[in-house]
Amino acid sequence: MPDLFIHNIKQLITPLQKHCSELKRTLHSIDSAAIIIENGVIKEIGKESELKPKITANCPTLDAKDTIALPGLIDCHTHPVYVGNRADEFHMRNAGKSYLEIAAAGGGIQASARNTRNASVEQIVEESLPRFQRSLRSGVTTIEGKSGYGLEWQGEVNLLSALRVINSIIPQRLERTFLVHVLPENYADKRELFCDEVINEMIPQVVERDLATAADIFCETGAFTVDESRRILTAAKDNGLAITIHSNQFGNSGGALLAAELGARSADHLEYLNDAEIKAMVEAGVAGVILPACVFFLNSIPYPPARKMIESGMRIAIATDCNPGTSMTESIPFSMTTAAIYCKMTPEELLWAVTLDAARVLGRDTQIGSLEAGKLADITLWNIPNLETLSYHFGLMEPSSVLIDGKVMLSNFDESRKY
Ligand code: NIG
Ligand code: FE
Repeated sequence: MPDLFIHNIKQLITPLQKHCSELKRTLHSIDSAAIIIENGVIKEIGKESELKPKITANCPTLDAKDTIALPGLIDCHTHPVYVGNRADEFHMRNAGKSYLEIAAAGGGIQASARNTRNASVEQIVEESLPRFQRSLRSGVTTIEGKSGYGLEWQGEVNLLSALRVINSIIPQRLERTFLVHVLPENYADKRELFCDEVINEMIPQVVERDLATAADIFCETGAFTVDESRRILTAAKDNGLAITIHSNQFGNSGGALLAAELGARSADHLEYLNDAEIKAMVEAGVAGVILPACVFFLNSIPYPPARKMIESGMRIAIATDCNPGTSMTESIPFSMTTAAIYCKMTPEELLWAVTLDAARVLGRDTQIGSLEAGKLADITLWNIPNLETLSYHFGLMEPSSVLIDGKVMLSNFDESRKY
């Protein structure tokens, strides 16, 4: 027997799995729709008039109150676990200092690492949890979270352990990634040694203790070189981790080409991306994850050439990059607004990039990312007149209801969520 019948949906809008291989991001939509959920899985979507006769009188129902049903949003790139706040750096940048100057003077990632590395797992959980709660409020049902502010092993273990605790508390699905971010201060003249330790000790431990399912590295001037990134990502891949890379954020760092060479699941940032790099990524089937809220917040680097990337056949996902230094937001809808304005993406492309294409980046597209029979029932209900409004009304865009595994995790149909 179904667990839930969602009815009175003004319009259901979703990408479809069968369109994944097509270049054009078309959407499937059904007016006056309903959804039948059984055992946390979508059993059927369709017109309410057609589905209603299939439901028994005692089946629990949820009145969508004439809202638009979309898949749960997916944020496939975030740095949500750390201690402290870097509002001072934000205002220093606005007064003229650059992100790289602040980092070179000991701020930036090292500042967050100093705040984070001696914190207990409990403290990290307590400081980080509200970020996940805000993410849920903005419609995110699956989130990827990276470590990276521990730098040295014990600090990284604490962050990955905190993510595991958070995973057991929050309703969202959480994918944990081990991020090799920058060289710890203690290793300033021991680069080679640090890379050896990452390869021979940390990565095998991450796998053995099931601390993460993916590895990521910051491949950029001031972080890790292409050769170091190649060694570390190759070791991660050989140990069975999915691999991804922070690349081409401050210049043509070589990271995007490395992602293509190694067959990474994605290359992320990509603000500086030339035609040859786009071609290599497309040929290798590497998805591009763009982080336009980070570009907005830094206000010093170009937006990624998303139109060119899309037109060359690259699969694109949009994520928040939520982190204390370069993107202090949990909002996927806001990230969609910036991608609309500055990357010229259409409403259809925007929705794909935060649902099914983001699910594909995480390797979860057979389970999540669209509203189709057989998928897990991760659904958001929005009191918006049309899909276009989701990215048009920016700053505070929250769904009326969020369901995960067919269970209502958030419900607020009051007028404040009517856009
Ligand atoms: O994705 N680019 C590297 N890492 C983060 C920023 C980290 C920080 O400044 O704290 C990013 O932008
Ligand atoms: Fe990032």
